[in-house]
Amino acid sequence: MVDKSKYALLLFALFLSVVAALEKKEDSITFKARVIVDNKLPSGQNFTIHCKSKDDDLDVHTILPNDIYTFHFYNNFWGTTLFFCRVTTSYGQGVYDLYKFKRDKKRCSVCVYRVTKDGVYAVSTEPGRYDFIFKWE
Ligand SMILES: *[C@@H]1O[C@H](CO)[C@@H](O)[C@H](O)[C@H]1NC(C)=O
Repeated sequence: MVDKSKYALLLFALFLSVVAALEKKEDSITFKARVIVDNKLPSGQNFTIHCKSKDDDLDVHTILPNDIYTFHFYNNFWGTTLFFCRVTTSYGQGVYDLYKFKRDKKRCSVCVYRVTKDGVYAVSTEPGRYDFIFKWE
């Protein structure tokens, strides 16, 4: 005699293992990226940074002189990953896209920025070169 509830349980277990396998697969398609923001403000000044994505709020952090702020994440399956950050200094402030999958997937998997009195520089693909990209508002 067939016990229907046992079949239901078995089916449910099978369903869960398929879901788990799919999630693992998605992890291998997506890749990890990292953002690093370093403090190059003159005369030992701090800045604050507040990064967010659609799903994450990374909170406000105070970055001390010559210190760095860093976070990492997995790009989502849809290629719509976007992290935007409010950077506040005594010279000015602004909200900038520090990681945008469509713009940055080829440019960097470790995306380095430098906060200065003029604004924010991005590390160029040429070694040792920084490009000025964001002026304070
Ligand atoms: C920078 O932040 C630290 C810790 O919050 C604080 O003690 C220090 O006074 C700040 N320095 C400046 C120049 O604002």
